[in-house]
Amino acid sequence: MNSFSLKTLQIEITTKCNFDCAMCLHAQNSLERNEISIDLFTKIAKEVFSGLDHLILYGVGEPLTHPNFLTLLDISRTYLPPHAKIEFTSNGSLLTADFLEKILKYKVDRIIISVDSPFLAKSRKMREGFNPEVFKNLKVLAEAYQSGKIPDLAIETVVSKQNLYDLSYLVEFCAEMGIPKIFLSHLLPYTVEMEKDSLFLPISADAFTLLDKIGELGWEILNQVILTPNYHKFINSEHNSQIQQILNSISEAQINNIDFDLQKIMDVIQKKQTIKNAQRVFKEISNLAEKNHILIDLPPLFAESTQRECPFAARNGLFISFDGNVIPCYNFGHEHKVVINHHERLVKPYILGNLNDPNISFKDILQSSKVKRIHSVLNSISRQVPFCGDCVYSTQNCYYITDNSSDCYGNTPGCNECLYSVGFVKCLFDI
Ligand SMILES: C[S@@+](CC[C@H](N)C(=O)[O-])C[C@H]1O[C@@H](n2cnc3c(N)ncnc32)[C@H](O)[C@@H]1O
Ligand code: SF4
Ligand code: SF4
Repeated sequence: MNSFSLKTLQIEITTKCNFDCAMCLHAQNSLERNEISIDLFTKIAKEVFSGLDHLILYGVGEPLTHPNFLTLLDISRTYLPPHAKIEFTSNGSLLTADFLEKILKYKVDRIIISVDSPFLAKSRKMREGFNPEVFKNLKVLAEAYQSGKIPDLAIETVVSKQNLYDLSYLVEFCAEMGIPKIFLSHLLPYTVEMEKDSLFLPISADAFTLLDKIGELGWEILNQVILTPNYHKFINSEHNSQIQQILNSISEAQINNIDFDLQKIMDVIQKKQTIKNAQRVFKEISNLAEKNHILIDLPPLFAESTQRECPFAARNGLFISFDGNVIPCYNFGHEHKVVINHHERLVKPYILGNLNDPNISFKDILQSSKVKRIHSVLNSISRQVPFCGDCVYSTQNCYYITDNSSDCYGNTPGCNECLYSVGFVKCLFDI
């Protein structure tokens, strides 16, 4: 088993926030609102910052509400090697020109501001607490980027049915402001309503094409072939050729290892128009961004399970929550539910150790066989971890989908329905 060398560290410096966004984990669970202490942050900095390439200062919460944010940057720069990058994502509301000037003294490499729409009313609806100051601060930030005071700047947008048609205006807004990058993430659905608002399907593009073909034949035929076990009696019916098409599609699915049931066909029928709309808008904004020299990172609309990547393992990364828990990734930081594959999955925190414990050093955690094992599995996630979107049992109360304790290959924790691993939901950005 290869040894693990920490290179990317995301620290949740606070869970406090001055916004109340409906889509946020905060709206779903009663997560304690508190901040990391200077002592704990210093302990972490002294132990591991010298080996890092990348430090990311946010989690669930608004990083700029930390009362000692500048001190944290000072400590970071003291212990990080000169080449290491510092970045944070913020709602932008507290990033005034004065504060920005102070922040930039610590050589922050990138700031990402969350903007879901260029329209004030829509932004207010999606992100309670949003105010015009965000746009004003963004303008100052864009000017700082244009004059070379900050090396990189981006906006992060969570896309769903609610703002899909605002995206082309958002690209134009960024072009006018001089913002060079847009990172788009799908909505992580914590509830059934959010799942209905989301724009992706957790099946492959090939499965979508095949199931769409079957779905197009209509309910009457589907009923006859899929719900009636002795469908052969219909073979000579007036629907013979359509039934034959379904039988051919079933063979094609078997040859291509596509596992499906009626539920998955229903999903395709129900979400097809949404997916097609998203495909069209993504193409449009991709062209518009290119025309305006903006880099845009778009999430896929389908899940290619053979191309999965754990964003944290791929960057030799870990996450630390505000209360000192060392965790494999942002997703496993706090308890929450996810609605996927027609069921609710409980995601429980998966804790590798707590740094407030005087008997535990961060280096001990990094050297532990648990960390090495997890990273060795996640570094070949497509081979070593099943993906439930590919499996019919995911919609039929399989034992391994109720929570993230383990998967059907025996791995602990269970990353078998991770929406980050297929690139639907984004938290770390390379471009
Ligand atoms: C949790 S926030 C913390 C940082 C800061 N408070 C902010 O809003 O930018 C980090 C990012 O997660 C996004 N986010 C919040 N809820 C989400 C969800 N359900 N699915 C995907 N992204 C989400 C936010 O829009 C933001 O870009
Ligand atoms: S501003 Fe960020 S942390 Fe605060 S509620 Fe919104 S998404 Fe959550
Ligand atoms: S849940 Fe996803 S992001 Fe977290 S460790 Fe597993 S694969 Fe990585």
